[in-house]
Amino acid sequence: MTIDKDFELTKKWDKQYCLGVFSPADVAFSKGSGVWLYDMAGNKYMDLIGGIAVNSLGHGNTALTSAISSQAKKLIHVSNLYYNSQKSELAYRLCNLSFADKCFFCNSGAEANEAAIKIARGYHYYKEDNRYEIITATMSFHGRTLATIAATGQEKFRKAFGPDMPGFVYVPYNDYDAIEAAITPHTAAIMLELIQGESGVHPARKEYIQKIRKLCTEKDILLIIDEVQTGIGRTGRMFCYENYGITPDIMTLAKGLGGGVPIGAMLCTDKVATGMRKGDHGSTFGGGPLACQAACTVLEQIEEKELLNNVGEVSEYLFYELGKLKIKYPSLVNSVRGMGFLIGIEFNEILGSVEMAQVLMNKGFLVSPIGNSTIRLAPPLILKKYEAKKFITTLADILKKNVSLHQTHASSGSTPKASSFEKKESLDVTKRNNPDEKFDFDEELEN
Ligand SMILES: Cc1ncc(COP(=O)(O)O)c(C=O)c1O
Repeated sequence: MTIDKDFELTKKWDKQYCLGVFSPADVAFSKGSGVWLYDMAGNKYMDLIGGIAVNSLGHGNTALTSAISSQAKKLIHVSNLYYNSQKSELAYRLCNLSFADKCFFCNSGAEANEAAIKIARGYHYYKEDNRYEIITATMSFHGRTLATIAATGQEKFRKAFGPDMPGFVYVPYNDYDAIEAAITPHTAAIMLELIQGESGVHPARKEYIQKIRKLCTEKDILLIIDEVQTGIGRTGRMFCYENYGITPDIMTLAKGLGGGVPIGAMLCTDKVATGMRKGDHGSTFGGGPLACQAACTVLEQIEEKELLNNVGEVSEYLFYELGKLKIKYPSLVNSVRGMGFLIGIEFNEILGSVEMAQVLMNKGFLVSPIGNSTIRLAPPLILKKYEAKKFITTLADILKKNVSLHQTHASSGSTPKASSFEKKESLDVTKRNNPDEKFDFDEELEN
């Protein structure tokens, strides 16, 4: 048996040879189609996390796979020593879709944010106004490089890797007065997510962002919006800032842009672009023909298949149904948050997020746990209403089974524990061996 069919060997070599920084679920996938993933044993799962907001067109999209393979046959890499038409086309498309005048391409969200931080400082350096401080929000997430962990307002990501890079100031999210109070003569930029994705799907308030925009304009402070997770259709608009009636000075993108092919981008206005001159920044791989061709195809497909409308319609259904579940099971569902296809469902502590994600996986749905009590959905933009309905039905079923357990604890006055949920579910959730016996999803292939 080859390793691509051998889950035990896959796991063994991962544990033995890969750095142990991840906690993978007990599964490996061998193929995908549309919103579906198939594990090595042939079990089928509805992918409601989409590679963490990456697989915007789902799996195996014909336009994307053809574009990648035909580009690969022509040219994979040439470097930025030369022009390449795929990079030029992608820059043209992104600038025409957004507020931006200029793009810089790289390979990940963290790299895009590095470019944003550098250009914000460079802008003030070349203006000779000695500003370098960047205000970010507590509970934010901007990446794993040294500058982006410094930008990230969560001590846990920095604690082992000090000394911290200086020049970052953290303020509570959604608190305008805190931002105003943090401004000093050295403030170069304010850097924010419009929805804090990694810390539990917390959207910013519209008024908060609009006031910050005004403040930045008045004081020539640059507004950096990190759309690594929220960009490229995720919220039902091409970019999340469109929901807020503002435009940033700098925006970063990655995740959904390449539909699974690694690419990051930093977009900015002409004014901000003065913050970098020839030789100030660069990338060996960034802007390569393969990734740029993939990203052009993603943008084309979003338009051709009217995926923004799809996200709007299906997410309206999801929020409506999840809202009903919250009303029906107030003791189990604490809140439903987010926008479009970035949704956080927070449960009461009796339903731990890891346990809930595991139970859903055992029932054929992939979501990601964040924190102790929230699960995140970030499905491909192609998810259809009838597919979303399968998830709602399953979640309703899980909640129904668990509400009686919770009520028993409540009436006896004892404190329910997450393990009660786990144990109870382990009684009625069998790990699937033959999915087709237990699942009757009518699969719709996107191709
Ligand atoms: C808002 C945000 N910014 C930056 C990043 C970092 O992106 P990457 O993992 O591609 O470096 C992430 C990743 O989750 C993110 O959600």
